[in-house]
Amino acid sequence: MRVLVIGSGGREHVLVWKLRQSPKVETVLCAPGNGGISLDARCVPVETADAGGIVGLVRRERIDLVIVGPEGPLAAGIVNRLEAEGIRVLGPTREAAQLESSKVFSKDFMARHGIPTARYTIYQDPQIAEAYLRSPEAEYPIVVKADGLAAGKGVVVARDADEACDAVRRIMVDREFGSAGNWIIVEECLKGIEASYIVFTDGRTVLPAAAARDHKAVSDGDQGPNTGGMGTYSCDDILGPALEREVLKKVIQPVIDGMRAEGYPFKGILYAGLMLTERGPRVLEFNVRMGDPECQVILPRLRSDFAELCAAVCDGRLADYKADWSPDAAVCVVLASGGYPGPYVKGKRITGLEMAAEDPRVSVFHAGTRREGDALVTDGGRVLGVTALDRDLAGAIMLAYEGVNKIHFEGMHYRRDIGAKGLKPGA
Ligand code: AMP
Ligand code: GLY
Repeated sequence: MRVLVIGSGGREHVLVWKLRQSPKVETVLCAPGNGGISLDARCVPVETADAGGIVGLVRRERIDLVIVGPEGPLAAGIVNRLEAEGIRVLGPTREAAQLESSKVFSKDFMARHGIPTARYTIYQDPQIAEAYLRSPEAEYPIVVKADGLAAGKGVVVARDADEACDAVRRIMVDREFGSAGNWIIVEECLKGIEASYIVFTDGRTVLPAAAARDHKAVSDGDQGPNTGGMGTYSCDDILGPALEREVLKKVIQPVIDGMRAEGYPFKGILYAGLMLTERGPRVLEFNVRMGDPECQVILPRLRSDFAELCAAVCDGRLADYKADWSPDAAVCVVLASGGYPGPYVKGKRITGLEMAAEDPRVSVFHAGTRREGDALVTDGGRVLGVTALDRDLAGAIMLAYEGVNKIHFEGMHYRRDIGAKGLKPGA
């Protein structure tokens, strides 16, 4: 198989790395990729938004399978375009991708299909939203969300009416997230434990991946502003078998069946962001792709052939695929540029990469790096993800941080408590 991965982050590095382990895969290309990915795959400078360029690349390189990493090209319809050309591609169509690209679509879909989620109201007029937020009916804290894609930054958990109205103004009047501010959602603030539940699906059959937990806030103890994700862990007891069955029955299967019934069959990777509340699991959001950095802890636990899995999803043969997941725990610690998630400087030289990955249980995935001659330099906010696998979570945490300690670049920062929640039940 000749495979093309679309994207340029840590998630795409893992996809490339995993594909290369498959004896079925002859060549892996990545568009546009990054410095670290270029050590593992041939990177081609075609941007993810350039659908015409991607079709041309697929034809020139006789690609058999395309895997789309990020949500942007999915929401823009890259799958529709490639499928219309008869190209095999893993990911949902533009219509099915609305589960992520429009929170209004996603909330209304959940309401239509009885999928448990936070109570909500949709507003098109900022004044009406503000009148509600200042009324005695509004209970605080409350959550205000922009409608469209906002790189994880369009959600505000407001402590009082002033904070909530300020969020409404920034989203709807100042248009901080562009057209994502046409509508807002105001919803009930849920309390509980957050988990990322990710499945592969061919539109009928569902294959659950190992569950994972993200750490979104920039600083230890979940303090500071949200980021794209500062680290993750994955192990078998995140949900447990009973809760996993409940999530499959009440959330995942109704989505797959509902999307098919509404004429938008969902094929690819479905990611449910869940809040595990006292009253059962509730959906915070859907993503229509692998999580980043969830991918960095999920795929290393897959022992069966990943290229075959992707082909089975595309060809509607997932029922025949036997997945084998390692019982080991995985931890990924993200190393970020000084200042991230605010403004940061790029181009800092990175050292210690080879030493960090000397232990075969440790892998370093590149998110924002660039090659400069023989050296690698920083080229983004999230720079690297150090993943370790071990028999238990405590061991994986220790190994991951041993890897982290060998890496250096100026301004580097990271959380020191990735995975710690998993050692304390109920945290
Ligand atoms: P989302 O992009 O919708 O997943 O929201 C980003 C983050 O905001 C989530 O990971 C949660 O930490 C938080 N969040 C979103 N919706 C809610 C809610 N209804 N209640 C509490 N926290 C929420
Ligand atoms: N780690 C969160 C996301 O990929 O959306």
